[in-house]
Amino acid sequence: MQHLSEVPVLILACAEGRVEHAGPGAQAPLYGSIFPAVWSLMLAFRARGIGSVLTILHIEHFEREMARVLELPADVTQVALVAAGYFTGTDFKPAKGWGPAAEGERKGRYGAGGSETTGCGMEPRNVDSGGPPDSPR
Ligand SMILES: Cc1cc2nc3c(=O)[nH]c(=O)nc-3n(C[C@H](O)[C@H](O)[C@H](O)COP(=O)(O)O)c2cc1C
Repeated sequence: MQHLSEVPVLILACAEGRVEHAGPGAQAPLYGSIFPAVWSLMLAFRARGIGSVLTILHIEHFEREMARVLELPADVTQVALVAAGYFTGTDFKPAKGWGPAAEGERKGRYGAGGSETTGCGMEPRNVDSGGPPDSPR
């Protein structure tokens, strides 16, 4: 967030359709259709010596402004903003909050064994919604 304005290339991945008022059955395929492409793009960048980072924060604060600047139709969903550029150092290391895969492992059912962290240090929003209707309390 602090460095987006310094990045030479910003790529906005979008999907056709709006699902903010739809259920998870509509949301999952919309976002799930785009993120594999975003990740493939980031891997392709990396293979060519270009660094990139996945961001979404602008969507919460500046979605409409971004849509206006890019003249996006109202039915287009902004999914992710990938910042890309040649990196200046090579001391890559895991982001804070990431642990070994086994740390976040769930055994048998959600919450049984493993840590309760979300892995990337970003907490899901709407955590007070009580979860999906059929989730065990
Ligand atoms: C879905 C998703 C959205 C993210 N959005 C942002 C963001 O808006 N701003 C940000 O600084 N990092 C965001 N991150 C974290 C970065 O992608 C990145 O992992 C983090 O900044 C650590 O950078 P590093 O991997 O270069 O150490 C997001 C991660 C994910 C998985």
